[in-house]
Amino acid sequence: MDETLEVLASLSEELPRLSPKYFYDSRGSELFEEITVLPEYYLTRSEAEIFDRHLDDIAQALGSGDIIIEPGSGNCSKVRPLLKRAAPSAYIPIDIAGEFLWAAAANTALEHPNLGVTAIAADFTQSWTFLEEIPKGRRIVFYPGSTLGNFDPSAQQDFIRQLAQVVGTQGGILLGVDLHKDSATLQRAYDDAAGVTAAFNRNMLAVVNARTGANFELKEWRHQARYNSEMRRIEMELVAQSTQTVTIGDQTLKFSEGAIIRTEHSHKFTMASIQDLAAAAAMTVTHHWLDSNARFCLALLQNA
Ligand code: AVJ
Repeated sequence: MDETLEVLASLSEELPRLSPKYFYDSRGSELFEEITVLPEYYLTRSEAEIFDRHLDDIAQALGSGDIIIEPGSGNCSKVRPLLKRAAPSAYIPIDIAGEFLWAAAANTALEHPNLGVTAIAADFTQSWTFLEEIPKGRRIVFYPGSTLGNFDPSAQQDFIRQLAQVVGTQGGILLGVDLHKDSATLQRAYDDAAGVTAAFNRNMLAVVNARTGANFELKEWRHQARYNSEMRRIEMELVAQSTQTVTIGDQTLKFSEGAIIRTEHSHKFTMASIQDLAAAAAMTVTHHWLDSNARFCLALLQNA
């Protein structure tokens, strides 16, 4: 759908929302990089610690000669320890951002001369037909960073089912997800003292302005992040600080003071919910590894 129409439709819902895809222009990606090193944002560090602590074990669970496929590979940095230790035969990074992808993939190939690297610029949320051309062998999809948490539960299930098909018999998914925990720790991670997450959230309005010609006034919207412990998700929102009139395309939307736009859901998981997800795709959680504070989980889901 045309982005202007898409934005108008989602803002006109009973609970106005914008898709998290509008976070990531180049400024948004920079701000996200900053988030990953904030003292409050433990996710990235916890996942890295899991690879530090359990790398031998993880490598052993994977075996050698696998084909590692990474949707949303970005700068290809998270897969590095795996490529070093697990000795896969091929690595297939997939990302929408072509230019960035080619550079990152080229670097990875230079570092690992015996690894077949095939970069694919594609929108993996649409289709996976591009995999028809990749080498034969046991497939492992690597999906770290708790990115899965951005999907709502039914979309999580659909996505894992789709991946189960993609990897086929004996194939697996190496999935990194953030775990449910006390609300205070979670809220701090999404509402940091330095205000980086607030800037990241507000930047979405700049992206929407640029992509649809809307005229959101960024400084009139306040960042809000709350943990909904029943739904086990962080709900990130922008709250109008005064009455706002916004023109998008040929329509004018009015937001009264205190009106809310939901910008992101970041779901948190439990061992049981990870197992349920696997079961819904007829897969089994054969291994899982935690960081020393049990904040984050790396799980290996496998097909029979
Ligand atoms: C990239 C979706 C994993 O949900 O923690 C970070 C995005 N939003 N701070 C997350 C995010 C606010 C992040 N993911």
